[in-house]
Amino acid sequence: MADVFVKPQIGGGGGIVIDDDWPGYCLDLFSYPAHYSGDLDCVVVPHGVIVDRIERLARNIMDDLGDHDIVVLCVLKGGYQFCVDLVDKIKALSRNSNRTLPMRVHFIRLKSYLNDQSTEDLHIVGAEDLSFLAGKNVLIVEAIVGTGKTMNALLKHVESFSPKLIKVAGLLVKRVPHNSTCLPDYVGFEIPDRFVVGYALDYNEYFRDLNHICVISESGKTKYKI
Ligand code: HPA
Ligand code: MG
Repeated sequence: MADVFVKPQIGGGGGIVIDDDWPGYCLDLFSYPAHYSGDLDCVVVPHGVIVDRIERLARNIMDDLGDHDIVVLCVLKGGYQFCVDLVDKIKALSRNSNRTLPMRVHFIRLKSYLNDQSTEDLHIVGAEDLSFLAGKNVLIVEAIVGTGKTMNALLKHVESFSPKLIKVAGLLVKRVPHNSTCLPDYVGFEIPDRFVVGYALDYNEYFRDLNHICVISESGKTKYKI
């Protein structure tokens, strides 16, 4: 029998672990936009699994933070889909249980990638005055955490506005050699150190319109290189 790619895990606090030797699902098993045919190697996380995992993260967040209002800080652009789905799931829990979580949503934009490489200059847009965060419970919602440099810079910036509490939700955490950050409080999946696209994650602004999280192919990289 073939190896199972996701080992049974105890606790699962670090998210669903996808091993380095997991080859991914064949693209032909799923539907995806025809305009990306030839641009992808495999599906790493199918859309349905992403949504199911987010439903559970929403419950964990509700258990920890419910009944006190929070400010959701969505990190654009890659985090928009995760944020929409996470907020939706929290709203559903607020409707269907006796707990409630009033949310305000604020958007900031970070940009540090060109092609598949991180650049040194990190731009934070829309975060100049976050003084309304003072004394608030803040949930940072980020699609992917790699080396942690971006997250550390953002945390420092947010902390300077004296919120009461900061929690971080990261859909994906990459196993990179020089990870300099603490794990997010809520992790969807721990993935190998490969460049992934889809579910709002881009390669030079392409692939945000792909539902599954996939590995881009070498020809895809060449096609959309700038
Ligand atoms: N894909 C898209 N954007 C990213 C990635 C990635 O793998 N890592 C950091 N930003
Ligand atoms: Mg990007």
